[in-house]
Amino acid sequence: MGGKVTVVGAGFYGSTTALRLAEYDVFDTVVLTDIVEGKPEGLALDMNQSRSIEGFETKIIGATTTAEGAGYEATANSDVVVITAGLPRKPGMSRMDLIGVNAGIVRGVAENIAKHSPDAVIIVVSNPLDEMTALAQIATGFPKNRVMGQAGMLDTARFTNFVAEKLGVKVGSVKTLTLGSHGDTMVPVPSRCTVDGKPLSDLLSHEEIADLVDRTRNGGAEVVALLKTGSAYYAPSAAAARMAKAVIEDSGAVMPVCAWVDGEYGISGVYLGVEAEIGRTGIKKVVESALTDSEVAALKEAAEAVRAKQADVQTL
Ligand code: NAI
Ligand code: 2OP
Repeated sequence: MGGKVTVVGAGFYGSTTALRLAEYDVFDTVVLTDIVEGKPEGLALDMNQSRSIEGFETKIIGATTTAEGAGYEATANSDVVVITAGLPRKPGMSRMDLIGVNAGIVRGVAENIAKHSPDAVIIVVSNPLDEMTALAQIATGFPKNRVMGQAGMLDTARFTNFVAEKLGVKVGSVKTLTLGSHGDTMVPVPSRCTVDGKPLSDLLSHEEIADLVDRTRNGGAEVVALLKTGSAYYAPSAAAARMAKAVIEDSGAVMPVCAWVDGEYGISGVYLGVEAEIGRTGIKKVVESALTDSEVAALKEAAEAVRAKQADVQTL
């Protein structure tokens, strides 16, 4: 296949994403960077030593960078860049509590990436997600289709897992969907949830579905409360890695992602969780599907909530 992907931030999210991407064996090179000296190089060395056991050829390169931009040469001409740099939540914190410090980090990273990889597709994961995605687009000046955020894949996967566990069925038989924001205005879409093709509402009561929706909305906080020292990374990294794979393979896969919305569902001018076709140009197209009136109303409410915050990030 070929191509180069850079993962910025070699913390839990970044390192697991880099390893997943390398194990797919579709890129020539995975570059992993961090401002902690030696950490990305050490992780890359370790990952490369797993290649003969796991049977993949992708080469992982670790590079220490500085906030000012030293070391970014290693990332030059990446096809895809996943931005994971930034602080994670601690118990009791909301994603929004991270906005000030992470905005500074994400802005700096995005500017350096734009300088060295002017044609890249950017996938943002740093929190608060919808706002950091908007900020990365502003800071890179890239076309909006080339900047997207990861949230919907993760929230949907959590919802799917909870439904499968509740009903004691295989996760492969469950289809769910969440749209909206990666936060309080997450919009689960029960009308698109099925088990072996049967509507979820035929299998669970309204109250049972509402409980699973609530658990999904709080899915990140539930993990943070148990870990105490950081946030989730196995499911999150699977989500971001699959998005990067869809880009490099130009697969056209339809995934729930944070994308620029321009008229779909009567919503315009905001980064929001919607379904979109992913390919070599980033977001090939936002896919508008049939939602119920109340689901569209919830999506519009989410759009207005994130719109206000996304306007704020321009000044951070
Ligand atoms: P972590 O603390 O393990 O790693 C963050 C890494 O970023 C650290 O190694 C740190 O040194 C590095 N870093 C800080 N400033 C940097 C810079 N300027 N350049 C390069 N690297 C820099 O945190 P973790 O668990 O990896 O989470 C990363 C981010 O992802 C957090 O903001 C977290 O909230 C977010 N997240 C988002 C999810 C989503 O669904 N969108 C899900 C889970 C986490
Ligand atoms: C999550 O949902 C904290 O956003 C992170 O796990």
